[in-house]
Amino acid sequence: MYADLFLTLLFSVLLCKEATCATNQTFPNYFKFGVATASYQVEGAWNEDGKGENIWDHLCHTNPDFVDDRSNGDIACDSYHKYKDDVAMLKDLGVDFYRFSLSWSRLIPLGLAGSPVNQAGIDYYKNLIQELVNNNIEPLVTIFHWDLPETLQEYGGFPNPEIEEHFAYYARVVFKNFGDSVKYWLTFNEPLQTCHEGYGIGFTAPGYKSSGLAEYKCTHTLIKAHARAYHVYDEEFRTQQQGYVGIAPDTYWYEPASGSVSDQEAAERALQFTYGWFANPIFNGNYPSVMIERIDERSKLQGFASSRLPKFTDEEVEYIKGTHDFLAINAYSTLYVQAKEEEVDTAVISYDSDLNVDTFFDDSWEESASSWLRVVPWGMRKLLNWLSKTYNHPEIFITENGVSDTGGLNDDRRINYYREYLSNVLEAILDDGVNVTRYTAWSLMDNFEWARGYTEKYGLYSVNFDDPGRPRTSKASASYYSSVISSKCLVDNCE
Ligand SMILES: *[C@@H]1O[C@H](CO)[C@@H](O)[C@H](O)[C@H]1NC(C)=O
Ligand SMILES: *[C@@H]1O[C@H](CO)[C@@H](O)[C@H](O)[C@H]1NC(C)=O
Repeated sequence: MYADLFLTLLFSVLLCKEATCATNQTFPNYFKFGVATASYQVEGAWNEDGKGENIWDHLCHTNPDFVDDRSNGDIACDSYHKYKDDVAMLKDLGVDFYRFSLSWSRLIPLGLAGSPVNQAGIDYYKNLIQELVNNNIEPLVTIFHWDLPETLQEYGGFPNPEIEEHFAYYARVVFKNFGDSVKYWLTFNEPLQTCHEGYGIGFTAPGYKSSGLAEYKCTHTLIKAHARAYHVYDEEFRTQQQGYVGIAPDTYWYEPASGSVSDQEAAERALQFTYGWFANPIFNGNYPSVMIERIDERSKLQGFASSRLPKFTDEEVEYIKGTHDFLAINAYSTLYVQAKEEEVDTAVISYDSDLNVDTFFDDSWEESASSWLRVVPWGMRKLLNWLSKTYNHPEIFITENGVSDTGGLNDDRRINYYREYLSNVLEAILDDGVNVTRYTAWSLMDNFEWARGYTEKYGLYSVNFDDPGRPRTSKASASYYSSVISSKCLVDNCE
């Protein structure tokens, strides 16, 4: 009896009941809610209607063990055929906008500048966009979300500076064909993961391990490609299309493990090595000075004739600076950061040794199904405040936030996650004066979660991947999110 009562009480504390964990203030009227997906994770139809191979097709087909359950995105959620079902779900949720990405190799099968454009690919996205517009849902389009055309990888991928030229060609095709209806663009999704995981530690396609070397060249090209696409928009499309262009880097909130100056410096350095790596060039014109200084110094000690971190010329700095119309952030979790002894041994060449911090979760933080993600709602508020202060109070779009489990329709823990993270977003807006105007839940539905395959679920809707028809079913979190969108309130009663 008493044990039961004790467990019930403990359970309610852990689940964090509404009143104790979320503000009863309401979101401002201008605030917009959306959900996100990405092409390779949902579309399927990997080789239909002229689509070219991309690096994820290639990796999954040639090295199936790369993915935990040896699955792939060949069919995924089959959104290529079921996009009308997807839009019906978006309509049910009542979202203001849908963030999805374009498959480069569906639109330009070889990816190369000047190579043929695939009309069937253009038609697919035109149909999807038209369906959204017919249902009064705004498209927010990611131009690149990790699925590089395989041909471009065979040219060396992002560490090859030529990619800038190919991306500019792609961006022009995209603005020209879709820019009449699409007003919000993200050039790159989580460039940190493209470069660090893709070319540094090998956790995502193409799976290269060249940390501290190729990964810096990757970033260098990617930032220039972003700036180039921004200028293409500015010079050729903006006057007529009147849209907005940004980039969506990701980071943890890095919380100093103690009040010591060295831990505080370590946490700031971690933010600069993740978010600042991309945002500082785009907002202020160059890599963060802490990155430049540390990598220059270590490169010298290691006997390199010049820094492993490539340098932007003065003209490039000017060209890149200011290529943003808003600030976007993908954020899920928090890490504690502790300063580390400076290594005397400089033999190790890597991004991690250039950064040189220890990071860890607190054992008390609730786990998710993803080893990298623990539930830390207050980290969101701190991160938003840091972004606002560091980048001079920009308009901020949260372009991804969400949590994984292993499945099931009664996903109360996901509801708690959204309630508590959104509460911190709202407090950042109303109490701290941070200008957040959009929030995007990841994800509309369960999908192909990269190297984790279908083992981790992030969706507001579940998808039955055993059924060829890929039926979708709404979860409890879908009805919670839709009530938040319609009431602008996170709890039962708002002020
Ligand atoms: C937020 O940013 C937008 C775009 O710059 C601006 O129009 C709006 O006034 C800002 N809102 C606040 C509260 O600062
Ligand atoms: C909202 O929260 C405040 C402070 O926690 C509380 O005083 C007030 O009664 C709440 N309002 C409603 C409608 O629950």
